[in-house]
Amino acid sequence: MKSVTIRVPATTANLGPGFDAFGCALSLYTDVTFEETDCGLEITGCDEAYTGPDNLAYVSYCAVLASMNEPVRGVKIHIDAQIPICRGLGSSAALLVAGAMGANVLRGNKLSTQGLLNITNAMEGHPDNLAPAFYGGLTASMVDNGLPVTVNFPLHPDWEFLALVPDFDLPTTLARSVLPEQLSRADAIYNIAHGALVLKALELGDEKLLRTAMQDRLHQKYRKKLIPDYDKIEALVRTTGAAFCLSGAGPTLLCITQDPDLEEKLQKKLPAITQANWEMLPLHIEFQGARVVESK
Ligand code: HSE
Repeated sequence: MKSVTIRVPATTANLGPGFDAFGCALSLYTDVTFEETDCGLEITGCDEAYTGPDNLAYVSYCAVLASMNEPVRGVKIHIDAQIPICRGLGSSAALLVAGAMGANVLRGNKLSTQGLLNITNAMEGHPDNLAPAFYGGLTASMVDNGLPVTVNFPLHPDWEFLALVPDFDLPTTLARSVLPEQLSRADAIYNIAHGALVLKALELGDEKLLRTAMQDRLHQKYRKKLIPDYDKIEALVRTTGAAFCLSGAGPTLLCITQDPDLEEKLQKKLPAITQANWEMLPLHIEFQGARVVESK
């Protein structure tokens, strides 16, 4: 029976003002192996709670086969995840992407990456994590007539990302439920302008511009109530000169810098101002998207 292992990078979505639109792939990975069997479903490598048919890798695997009118026979799925679950680093998108790519590879790559993005976006509801997970690097996406349209943006290679990952999770559904249905015109203009300048600052490697542009009025101020010590951590990071934002829906907080000593600077000060334990994960930009690492 055929098997394939797909490696998908972590992703940080939004990048401040680019809510549901911007995303960047990072150097942390989830590997998922799909092995075809005659019948049944077996999922290993994850918590018991995720071993049923609602596992996102399986849901997406089935959706891609259904789109090709192919029957779903049995499959064994093994998940080897570095990406922490429900922390705002694209763990769900990674499973969706792996499932879609796994099914496509096992069926002779009948669908294009755009086709796989269309199917997974219909499940996720927004393409900001999915697009960089598929394509790598920095992406901006829109959804037009129900279909995602993605563009890769240039990214200065010197940026380093320091993810501050707490020991508590934050379900995206909860983090979206606190957002208002309506925005003022002033806040909409603020986000459009800041978003455009975030992309330029990331391209130029301009830390000062990024610090100023990476501000948002659409989601972060509502979500920070769900994250103890958010304001204190933001104030501390801003003293270092790094740019700061919520990673995706949170609770991970993201520092973007070119300062190689940022982690050391935060190491002593962070525990002194926070209640939770915050792990620091130094990450690089991942310019390559999801890929096959083994195929038998
Ligand atoms: N753009 C999404 C959000 C990312 O902020 O809710 C998390 O899925």
